[in-house]
Amino acid sequence: MQIVRQLDPLRDALAELRKPGLKIGLVPTMGALHAGHMRLVEVAREHCDAVVASIFVNPTQFGEGEDLDAYPRQEAADAALLEAAGVELLWAPTADQMYPSGYATSVSVSGISDGLCGAARPGHFDGVATVVAKLFNQTRPDAAFFGEKDYQQLAVIRRMARDLDFTHDIVGVPTVRDPDGLALSSRNAYLTEQQRADAVALPETMREVAGAIAAGGDVATILAEGRARIVAAGFHKIDYLELRDADTLLALDKFSQPARLFAAAHIGRTRLIDNIPVS
Ligand code: PAF
Repeated sequence: MQIVRQLDPLRDALAELRKPGLKIGLVPTMGALHAGHMRLVEVAREHCDAVVASIFVNPTQFGEGEDLDAYPRQEAADAALLEAAGVELLWAPTADQMYPSGYATSVSVSGISDGLCGAARPGHFDGVATVVAKLFNQTRPDAAFFGEKDYQQLAVIRRMARDLDFTHDIVGVPTVRDPDGLALSSRNAYLTEQQRADAVALPETMREVAGAIAAGGDVATILAEGRARIVAAGFHKIDYLELRDADTLLALDKFSQPARLFAAAHIGRTRLIDNIPVS
């Protein structure tokens, strides 16, 4: 696996990979890879002839006081995992390759970026849309792969790609979970043993809430009970537990299809997010 950190060698390496009739898949990441990322690589392999992964801890998607400095960085271990999974090329740019001195452009996707994580983390999706648009331009893939765990991010990227005329496929890959149901996340590494044990209340409560809503219960009451249960389990702050239309992400106060339940809650210093279909 070739590792490149500068744009010129990236273009040369991509020119080598790009052959008529062969597809290149892009798996963008911020590193600290886990089985969820490796599933993205697997799916990319199924769809494409060559896989390019990127690792870049993107400063513009972290707000003030968030975990940019603490975000786990383990490039050597990540590169070994990607190489073992057959990734052809790792794009691991330096910060000044991505945002050179004088950099002044931002991509902002209105509507779908509002609410949920967009409300809790102002500016976050501008940073995501900007860096993903740059990664798309830099690598010009035939398909790009993103986890459904960051469902709103996936929706923002799909909207951005349609609006800016990126024509490659955007493929959403279902969330990978630990056996007890907790969604895999690089941020799970921040949890103490006790917090990890308590954290399972989030997916458990979400499954119960989704079941009760699908069974026809009153949405507002069920969500309020769910929030109380998550707090009782050890989460000290809930950013949201909401029922939304799975396509538009508009809030639903009554159950209608397609619906999805979204949650973000804080335990210790860790903010966990999750989402599941309600059907
Ligand atoms: O999901 C992530 O890891 C990041 O938000 C992404 C898409 C790589 C952009 O920095």
